[in-house]
Amino acid sequence: MEFAGTIELVRSVVKAVKIAGKRVGLVPTMGALHAGHISLIKRAVKDCHFVVVSIFVNPTQFGAGEDFENYPRPIEADLEICEKAGADLVFNPSAEVMYGGEGLTWITVEKLTEPLCGRSRPGHFRGVATICAKLFNIVQPDVAYFGQKDAQQAIVIRRMVADLDMPLEVVVCPTVREPDGLALSSRNKYLSVEQRREAAKIYKSLAKCKEMREAGVTDAKQIIAAMREILRQIAGGQIEYVEIVDAETLEQVNEIKGSILGAVAVRLGPARLIDNILL
Ligand code: PAJ
Repeated sequence: MEFAGTIELVRSVVKAVKIAGKRVGLVPTMGALHAGHISLIKRAVKDCHFVVVSIFVNPTQFGAGEDFENYPRPIEADLEICEKAGADLVFNPSAEVMYGGEGLTWITVEKLTEPLCGRSRPGHFRGVATICAKLFNIVQPDVAYFGQKDAQQAIVIRRMVADLDMPLEVVVCPTVREPDGLALSSRNKYLSVEQRREAAKIYKSLAKCKEMREAGVTDAKQIIAAMREILRQIAGGQIEYVEIVDAETLEQVNEIKGSILGAVAVRLGPARLIDNILL
């Protein structure tokens, strides 16, 4: 496995790989890698000849008072995980490399970034879209891999790629969960043992959503009320949102017909946890 800290090195390595006619996959991450990230890397290894994993805690997607400083950065362990998962190149640039210039250009995906996490994290998706566009331009992958765990992010990136005619495919992979249903997240590390136990109720609320939908309930309000009831029982938890939205437009749904996303955000101690279920 190779390592690059500069744009020039990534470009020269990938150029050679592409001249050899190989398919290049990119897995963008912020590190603190877990089984969710590993599933994306393994999927990329299965689909592509050459897999690049980027590890960069992107400052522009964190708001004031968020956890940018405290975000875990276990780079040695991350490199080992990438190597074991079969990655060919890890790109781990400094903030200076990614944002050394004045940076007057930003990507704003409208509408899709307004609901759900967009409400409490203004500017977050602008930071995500911009860093992903930069990574796509640096690596020039044939395919980029994202997790369903961050459903809104995946939808925003898919739309950016389509609207700006970026020459790559976006693949969204299923959410990897702990045995009790909690979605793996680098932010689970912030939870105490007690909070970690309570956090399992987030998945319980999503399972309830699925159960009711499958039982034929079409009134979104009724399902949301049942989900809230479960989330209210999280000791020390604070519900940020519980919504049922159209799986493509992210617009709120009243009467459920097509594909929907049940989406939840809960603050629990130092962590803000998000999860969703696609139905
Ligand atoms: P990060 O939170 O490190 O996540 C990197 C990728 O892993 C994202 O596509 C995310 O959806 C996916 N992922 C996280 N937890 C997962 C799980 N339990 N199962 C499956 N996939 C999971 O998301 C980001 O970083 C950043 O916003 C980034 C896209 C790298 C831009 O900075």
